[in-house]
Amino acid sequence: MNFFGSFPNTRMRRNRRDVWTRKLVAENVLTAGDLIWPIFLTDGENRIEPVESMPGIVRVSVDRAAEHVAEAVSLGIPAVALFPFTPLEARDEEGTGALDTNNLMCRGARALKAAYPDLGLIGDVALDTYTSHGHDGVLRDGYVHNEDTVEILCRQALAMARAGVDVIAPSDMMDGRVGSIRKALDDAGLIHTRIMSYAAKYASGFYAPFRDAVGSTGALRGDKKTYQMDPANSDEALREVALDISEGADMVMVKPGLPYLDIIYRVKAEFGVPTFAYQVSGEYSMLMAAVERGWLDHDRAMMEALIAFKRAGANGVLTYFALKAARLLKSG
Ligand code: PBG
Repeated sequence: MNFFGSFPNTRMRRNRRDVWTRKLVAENVLTAGDLIWPIFLTDGENRIEPVESMPGIVRVSVDRAAEHVAEAVSLGIPAVALFPFTPLEARDEEGTGALDTNNLMCRGARALKAAYPDLGLIGDVALDTYTSHGHDGVLRDGYVHNEDTVEILCRQALAMARAGVDVIAPSDMMDGRVGSIRKALDDAGLIHTRIMSYAAKYASGFYAPFRDAVGSTGALRGDKKTYQMDPANSDEALREVALDISEGADMVMVKPGLPYLDIIYRVKAEFGVPTFAYQVSGEYSMLMAAVERGWLDHDRAMMEALIAFKRAGANGVLTYFALKAARLLKSG
């Protein structure tokens, strides 16, 4: 029996005819509660500087961080993800800045927690914003050394968690790091600190504007293909996610976003765990560049991309559009 019926008894356009029916039959919704806003911190005082390659995105000094997120908080955005800008001269081979309990991330976390105790703080764990070579780990004979890196990442995670970061987000793609970080946190009594792992993170060309934003552009030697995933693969993403869950990840992430909707879909279908998409810098800049040329409508392109993540199964999205999308959602 044809359960769905056929034309002319069935007219698919009936439910699309009016705003109110379209609303009733919508299968997915986007709310401010789905959005995580990445923000860039920079040294100095009273600073707000634009990121050239990301129109509308700025770096802020810690003293202005609370003011910077105030509107996002009032619009109901549940969490922000912090990233530090580190100029080349402040970097070294081992990324020691990551362990400084007074670094930008820790100071930023303390300032934001003090101002907004209920705002979730997500802290990126990886060494690329601290190393002179721009890699996410430490080099031994030219190779990013797994275990040596993981040991440093654990200490980096502890410093952040103690400063008030609620969610440790390892973006480095070292093997075994989630389990090691979980153990380090637990041993320190930080049992409530969550882990959102960048579980399926691809070696992507779409991170270029981000590297500009954090000061890594001139730094990176080579590429990250020995640790980030090959864009050709998707079964491998499931193995990565399975491992991270077994090691104690509370939430997993797929990154980049739109070119990898199939991965989000598979991860959510296979594991049913809280799954997040990262609509990365290049995706943001691509849309903004077209908007600036008048080729795309900003609000429509933004909202269409964001609902696509929900449709694919994501629980939420890290996006540079978070504030603008939340504003639009509020205005109706
Ligand atoms: C660092 C990190 C990167 C991003 C988030 N964390 C860059 C990279 O892996 O090279 C990219 C985010 C973006 O492009 O918006 N490990």
